[in-house]
Amino acid sequence: MTAKIISGKEIATRLREEMKLEVEKLKSQGVTPGLAVILVGDDPASHSYVKGKKKGCEEVGIYNRSIEVPATLTEEELLGMIDELNNDDSIHGILVQLPLPNHIEEKKVIERISPEKDVDGFHPINVGRMMTGQKAFLPCTPFGILKMVQLQNIDIEGKHVVVVGRSNIVGKPVGQLFLNENATVTYCHSRTKDLKEITTQADILIVAVGRANFIGKDHIKEGAVVIDVGVNRLETGKLCGDVIFDEGLEVASYITPVPGGVGPLTITMLLYNTIESAKQKIG
Ligand code: GUN
Repeated sequence: MTAKIISGKEIATRLREEMKLEVEKLKSQGVTPGLAVILVGDDPASHSYVKGKKKGCEEVGIYNRSIEVPATLTEEELLGMIDELNNDDSIHGILVQLPLPNHIEEKKVIERISPEKDVDGFHPINVGRMMTGQKAFLPCTPFGILKMVQLQNIDIEGKHVVVVGRSNIVGKPVGQLFLNENATVTYCHSRTKDLKEITTQADILIVAVGRANFIGKDHIKEGAVVIDVGVNRLETGKLCGDVIFDEGLEVASYITPVPGGVGPLTITMLLYNTIESAKQKIG
């Protein structure tokens, strides 16, 4: 079997076209969706993500306020900035780029963002709403993965979804989203024994461990759908995922590439959440 390659880039382009129209409609009703992005310090990877978010906003017509502050910013100052944005009617989404410098407690920062502007879906209120199947801002990467699978018309109900990785940002919530869609979900992680025995049972295998070439064809059931969330930079400078792509291609029915797979969907769903938040202003 040669897998079909799911192009996240193409899906993201299509979704952004639809979003442009949504934004135009909102603007005609007097609301311009607004996203504030705070970047503390000068981590190059974070800078590049923030640039992508800004570009995404420009593409669909969302007002973007990028706030770049030095790593010496105090926790109090950051919390004060969040309070201001919480009270700013032109801002519908607030994102504080992670990781933060060590002297700032991430948990405090996430919990300070109003749950109604938490377009990252990281606030415990949104996590709780998601867990209980209520309307919530869904975290962008897991939401993007679910969208990708749904847009390929791949059945989820009753399928065995195996998630490798248990981070708060990707692994844990992505399993929950597929559970909400009536999949049977198994989580694997660094302490899992006999990983292959479990991953080879997956109808849909989602890999988010952050280790280059961690999953090969021996881990994949013939005909499985393979979603690779890893973004790893090799010594050669080349980007690669957690899955050995050529091996996945041989055995899977669908596979996502790196780059150009899950990545483009993450920012797209951030834009989506910001638009949804702005829509609440119209009712
Ligand atoms: N750092 C890496 N990914 C993310 C993300 O999705 N949101 C935020 N706020 N920071 C990140």
